[in-house]
Amino acid sequence: MPKHDMPKREVSPSPDIQGVLLCTLSLTVSLLALGACNNSEIEGDVWRGISAKLRTKAKRIYEVRCANCHGDTGAGDGPDANKTNPPPRSFRDMKWQKSISNATIEKSILGGGAATGKSVKMPPNPDLRDRLELVEAMRAYVRSLRN
Ligand code: HEC
Repeated sequence: MPKHDMPKREVSPSPDIQGVLLCTLSLTVSLLALGACNNSEIEGDVWRGISAKLRTKAKRIYEVRCANCHGDTGAGDGPDANKTNPPPRSFRDMKWQKSISNATIEKSILGGGAATGKSVKMPPNPDLRDRLELVEAMRAYVRSLRN
């Protein structure tokens, strides 16, 4: 076989150790990014990526399905608020906003209090199961009520 037909070996001196270092580095970076993402769920524009049409819809649904308990401004003071024990929480509470993830808010909108181990008086909204973009918009609306 002529020399130039020999299979080429493109291996740098110590690929193993380089790979391990690279992996460790990128893992650290992604973990840091993940931590930052968690916080950024309540920072900046909570409506990011949600169309104007969905925003309007989410607000309307909140007024019809949620405000009677959670209150117009999310303070937990709607006319039916005293019918649940514990009472509906205040969405204006920044400590709560920081403590809860978008995923958990969306889960409780879909599955009600039972889905997240909270009050079963908080009703589920199974009709929104195939309208997840609307559930996201409603989650953003809940976020927008923060103080
Ligand atoms: C019948 C009253 C009632 C209605 C209607 C209601 N909720 Fe609730 N909601 C509650 C109660 C009670 C809780 C539980 C409070 C607690 O345990 O801290 C709750 C909890 C929540 C939570 C917090 C879950 C958690 O893990 O902290 C979210 C988010 C929420 N509701 C959103 C909504 C939205 C959005 C709607 C409308 C689609 C809605 N709720 C309708 C009563 C209600």
